[in-house]
Order: sequence, then C-alpha cells, then structure tokens
Amino acid sequence: MPNIGSYDERIKDFDWSISEKELGYKDGDVINIGWYCSDRICQMGKADKLALLWENATGREKNYTFNDVRLASNTIGSFLRGLGINDGDRVCLFLDKIPELYLGFLGILKIGAVAQPLFSAFGDESLYVRLANAETTAIITQRKHVAKVRKIRDQMPYLKHIIVVDYDGRKPLREREIAFSLEEQTPVEDLEIFPTKAESTSVLHYTSGTTGQPKGVQHVHYSLISQYLTAKWVLDLRDDDIYWCTADPGWVTGTSYGIIAPWSLGITQCVQDAGFSAEAWYRFIQKRKVTVWYSAPTAIRSLMKAGEEIVKKFDLSCLRHLASVGEPLNAEAVIWSERVFGHAFLDTYWQTETGSIMLTNFPGMKIKPGSMGKAFPGVEATVLDPKTYEPLTEPGQVGLIGFKPGWPAMMRGYWNNEATYKGKFHNGWYLSGDRSSIDREGYFWFTGRDDDVINTGGHLVSPFEVESALLEHEAVAESAVVAKPDEVNMEVVKAFVALKPGFEANADLELKIMNFIRKKLSPLAMPQEIEYVNSLPKTRSGKIMRRVLHAKEWNEEVGDLSTLEDDE
Ligand code: WT7
Repeated sequence: MPNIGSYDERIKDFDWSISEKELGYKDGDVINIGWYCSDRICQMGKADKLALLWENATGREKNYTFNDVRLASNTIGSFLRGLGINDGDRVCLFLDKIPELYLGFLGILKIGAVAQPLFSAFGDESLYVRLANAETTAIITQRKHVAKVRKIRDQMPYLKHIIVVDYDGRKPLREREIAFSLEEQTPVEDLEIFPTKAESTSVLHYTSGTTGQPKGVQHVHYSLISQYLTAKWVLDLRDDDIYWCTADPGWVTGTSYGIIAPWSLGITQCVQDAGFSAEAWYRFIQKRKVTVWYSAPTAIRSLMKAGEEIVKKFDLSCLRHLASVGEPLNAEAVIWSERVFGHAFLDTYWQTETGSIMLTNFPGMKIKPGSMGKAFPGVEATVLDPKTYEPLTEPGQVGLIGFKPGWPAMMRGYWNNEATYKGKFHNGWYLSGDRSSIDREGYFWFTGRDDDVINTGGHLVSPFEVESALLEHEAVAESAVVAKPDEVNMEVVKAFVALKPGFEANADLELKIMNFIRKKLSPLAMPQEIEYVNSLPKTRSGKIMRRVLHAKEWNEEVGDLSTLEDDE
C-alpha cells in the first residue's frame, strides 16, 4: 500500500494541517528548515542513521549520519555568523555536488540567512547577474571556481566574503577571500538556531524568462509543509529507503527534493558528484541499493539510447519506485522504463516558482503514459482560456495552466521585481506559463510553453540572455536565439547570427562563438548550432520575430504574421 493510500479518499477532505501535525508545527511557531532536516531527526532517535552517502567520479567516498549533518551544518552556520552574516543576508552556494553544498545549505538556513544556490557550471556573466540582483553578501565556493568570482568581484562591493572550502595553501588568498575547512574545524555542538517563522525567506533560486534578466524566486521556510508531504505521498519515501535524486541543488529539484524533503523525513539519500554515463548510473544504483529514484526525462532518454543490453549487466532489483520531472516525459519513456526496470517512471510537474510538486502520477493510480497526472491534494489546478482567464470546461480543450494560490511552497515573490510577480496572476489564478489540456478523468496533458523560453534537458534557458551575450562577441552584429528539436534533450539552443562587416562566416568562427557563450553563460546556454544569416525577420517596430524562426526549425506553420507582430 503506497503512503498516500487512496488518492480519491485523500482529496475529499484534504488539509495541509495533515503535514503540519506530522511535523509538529502550529501556526505562529518557529519553523526552521535547517533544524527540521537535522536536529529534529536526531531528537526522533535517528542520530546514528545514515543521512548522506556521497561519492565522486574519482572514487572518493564520504558518509554522514544525521548527527554528522547536524554538527556540520551547525559548524558552517556558526562560521558564517562569526563573519558577521545576519539573518536575511543572501549567501550563495557555488559548488559542485560536494558534501559542503548540502551541509552548507542547512547551515545558512539555521542562522536565518537566505540560501542562494547557483549551478557551478555557470560562467562569470551568469554568476554576476544573479549575485548583483540579490546583492549577495557571501559566496561559498571551491578553488576551481574562484577565478570566475575574481573576475567579477570588483563590480560587487556588497560581496564581503568569498569562502573557499578546499583551500590547500598553495597560492595566497586574495582580498575578501577566506578559507574554511569542514574537516579541520572543531564541530559545533550547540548552535543557536535563528527563530525563523513561516514567512521568513529561506531559499532564492534563479530562473530564466523570455525577456529581461533572470528572476530570483523567493521561497519561505513554510515551504517545508508542501515539500515534506509531496515527498511522502508522491515519492513514497519510507524509513528504510535509499533515495537518489539526480538533480543538482543549483536548481530547485535538487534543493526541494534533493535536500529538504528527504532529510525532513529522515531518509538516507545518496549523491554522485560525477557526469552522466549509463554504466556509471546503473553501477551506482546497484552499489548503493537505490530504492527510490527521482530523475529527469533527458536522463531517461539517454538511458534508452544506451540500450537494454547494458541494463542486464547490473542487478537493479533494489529499485522500488521511480519518478521524473523537468520536461515532458514521453509515453515511450514511461513504457520503456516499465519494461526494463519493472517500474514505470511517474511523471511529476512543477516549477521553481511552485516550490513543490503540483501535478503528478501517484503510486497506485492508473498511469496514462504521456500524461502529467492529476493535481496534488490541496492544489486547485485548471486550464484557463488565454483571453478571458476563465477555466475551460470541456475535456480536451487546451489552455493555460492555472493554480489557485495557497499551497505552502508557492514563491512569495521575485526578488526586487514586484511587477513581473504580479503579472503572473490573472483572475485569481497563478499562471505557470505552460499550456495543457485536461481529460475526462482529470489527467493533465502538457502541450507546450506559452513563451519563448528554451527547455533544454530540463533546464530553462532565456533566448534573451543568449542574444545579449552574443552581442558582446566582436563578430556579431545581431542575433536571434530559438529552440531546435533534439532527440535526447528535446530542445537545444540554436542561434541565427548576422555578422559585422569584415568577418567571414565559417566553421571556425562558429566554434569560437559557441565557446564564448559556454564560458560566459554556461554549457547549457551554448548554441549547438549557429546559422549565419544576412538579416533577421523583424516586426515593423524592429523587434526580432523569434517565432518565425522557431516555426521553421520545428516544421510548423508560421501562422498569421500580422497578429504575430501585435503579440511582440
Ligand atoms: C518548467 C519549470 C521543478 C522542476 C524542475 C524545472 C517544464 C517541468 C514538466 C513536466 C512537461 C515540465 C515546464 C515548467 N516542466 N516539469 N512533467 N512535463 N514540462 O523547474 O526550471 O522552474 O522549469 O519546466 O515548462 O514550467 P523550472
């Protein structure tokens, strides 16, 4: 019997107080995620239970019990407090998937500061815009990433501390840099936990939109109420599970379900700080005896591509429950996983903004391959008419996904961007920016995004950010960036580029421009193809019509260009 029991029974008189009660929280109490994920679990008698089984590509391994997690997060929290970091200050985690990322996250929350995790493959420009927007006080990083911080720190007077967790003493530290070694520090037994309340800011995750700079999605400690219960009922986590969330905590899946949810449930999780390979992943599952696996469609498609033969080399009978998030999970991937692993990957749908799972296939529920499933209890979901923002009533009609505000993990704002935040609400609904239909039985079927944002392998990339970065290249006069279809990543970045006079359109320049973007932004944002053009399609007012180029890439009808102009 799955944790959720029966979905139909659960939705009848659902109330989030179910989760509050299990967590021993009452309205008005102190609620601190850092404490809930470590101290509380120890108090419940699980101090010696393994919390984190960590390894990297070179075979290094480290294990932490919940008591170790409690002490390490105390130690980091105390160190930060000693530097003068206060509650509400933003502290960026710019780390590979090393233990300090997971432990530091809790340490930051314990002192009431705001955790700002950023993907460590970001280049200096991507890093800069996010730190500048948040006016981040401190950044916790590793030697290998310090050069990127050095490049931009003179533009950031508010950035007071650059904390290096693996300093080896070889080269002198520079201005504002300070070494911190978790292993050499005396463990802090008692840390005064900052008394954060439900509405205290906890985490700031950056997400990309079509226009403008990335937005800082502001979450609060009360998000725990959603994250805890969704993990229990959707991921079906149980006391003896070994859980593997493949997401990087630089993105919301990696924090909501890669730190907060499993540890608040006292679950053992494992982490592999290594790149993707089908063989390495299967070996990891076999070795760690993974029971619950939360991953992403692109990874699953890559595994499909690697073939079934390789699966047979490993004993994966430990697997009990599989789920996926981030992009459309095609029906073939669901059917394939059912056949090959004996368990279908269950699709879940949510966003950085929603903070927790919103639509999902539940264990025990009838699966319709290709569908995102149904709304989580307590989540009121619908599809809206794009013009009137009234719910569509006919099954199968495609509209905009809308959620009634009120679930605990909903973002509380975009950092310093009230106008964009307000623009997400219409007629009392929060609009996710995606389109879907709902069938007769209440299952949601994703049809696409309602904007130009590119979802490449589950990561959102803003065409605007890539276009702006391209313009900084000496050869580029103008550019337009769109998604192009890709077998594994679903979408990849493609750039149309018009060159300045004197530059020759050739393959060598294409590589140079690609590399330029990779370094400045990230490998995700790097165009996989550059098409040279003489000019770009524009509206009369001079705006680039990305949708014309997009339609061409996807072999779709361009549609009525006059309305297109109005839209832009
Ligand atoms: C966007 C959110 C929180 C998960 C990590 C991504 C797309 C997400 C699905 C799904 C189709 C999906 C949507 C959404 N998306 N899950 N199951 N099926 N599309 O978080 O970076 O904020 O991206 O990812 O377009 O709006 P994110």
